[in-house]
Amino acid sequence: MAPRVAVLPGDGIGREVVPEAVALLQGLGPGIEFEFFDVDADRYLRTGVALPPEIFRRLEQADAIFLGAIGDPRVGDAAYQASVLGHLRTVFDLYANVRPARLLDESLSPLRHPRRRMDLVVLRENTEGLYAGMGARYRPGSDQEVAIVHHYNTYAGVTRILEYAFAIARREVCMVDKWNAMPESGALWHARFRAVAERHPGIRARHLMVDAAAAHLVRDPGQFDVIVTENCFGDILSDLAGELAGGIGMAPSGNFNPAGRRALFEPVHGSAPDIAGRGVANPVAAIRTGGMLLQHLGFEAAARALEAAVVAAIRAGERTRDLGGNLSTAEAAAAIGRRLRRGG
Ligand code: NAD
Ligand code: IPM
Ligand code: MN
Repeated sequence: MAPRVAVLPGDGIGREVVPEAVALLQGLGPGIEFEFFDVDADRYLRTGVALPPEIFRRLEQADAIFLGAIGDPRVGDAAYQASVLGHLRTVFDLYANVRPARLLDESLSPLRHPRRRMDLVVLRENTEGLYAGMGARYRPGSDQEVAIVHHYNTYAGVTRILEYAFAIARREVCMVDKWNAMPESGALWHARFRAVAERHPGIRARHLMVDAAAAHLVRDPGQFDVIVTENCFGDILSDLAGELAGGIGMAPSGNFNPAGRRALFEPVHGSAPDIAGRGVANPVAAIRTGGMLLQHLGFEAAARALEAAVVAAIRAGERTRDLGGNLSTAEAAAAIGRRLRRGG
């Protein structure tokens, strides 16, 4: 049966970059059926529900979900984003958020002296940590207010993300936490890290504190292979890694559960309200996210061809403004499309 992909462009630049990416994918994954759904702030403001049950059922049946970005300045409450992105990650138990950051060309690095090739993955635990939704607000709005967020980590959750890290690593796993300030979760992560690392003697195991990891990333991003960390640290470090690899307009991501059939693909960036509606957003993150989707569905050669076309276009200077070029979203995507047809 032809794979079915549910497409949720979402808000802001999601609506600009996702259709461009899907147009390229249509020529590459023969037979993939793409079905678009309006799960966005307009629907939320109109009806109070962003993801109604009838659309959710379609997402459940899809082989993969391709999401642009959720977030709109007209919506003030975090519940909206949680009801889409957070909900899908949790309800499908997509615990492994894979966020690769590869420097495609040295000219893209914001560093003065990029020292080595950069090709790493930030592997973000996606269902626990500071994002588990556990906490409370007491006496809100008063000068007696108390706000609590629990840092939730389980033996099973930590073990499976560490196993995933060793499974995708080529040479090293660097586990990042903050045990000196958060010793309870730190103890669990360290104990499980030692145990899992022992099962993978061929892969180096290293630990860094999250603050030091941020500094190391800027000093020499080429040293890393897989960085595995809890949800919130992973969110932050993946923007940092994306920016070091040229900008978050280039950074793709996939959310996986290897035991399940489902996966959710989304660029690392958000809806970028500051540039939305102007046709200037970089479509590369969405296009490379489409590449991860192709790979997941088994179209490996097509995924490689797409990445090669992106690299060729970038190196030829066919770039949007964020990368120092002057192409619009549609022109940048079209340039990649031309190189795809030419084979590089
Ligand atoms: P953002 O990632 O949307 O933007 C950060 C900066 O990067 C902005 O200056 C933006 O213009 C720029 N940028 C982002 N993507 C770009 C692209 N493709 N091309 C060129 N420039 C790009 O982060 P934000 O401003 O903090 O968030 C905006 C909204 O998006 C918020 O509501 C936030 O919660 C949401 N968000 C959603 C997701 C998601 O759905 N996956 C991810 C991150 C943020
Ligand atoms: C991301 C985003 C989300 C997150 C927001 C929108 C809640 O920043 O996917 O990186 O932090 O998970
Ligand atoms: Mn983020």
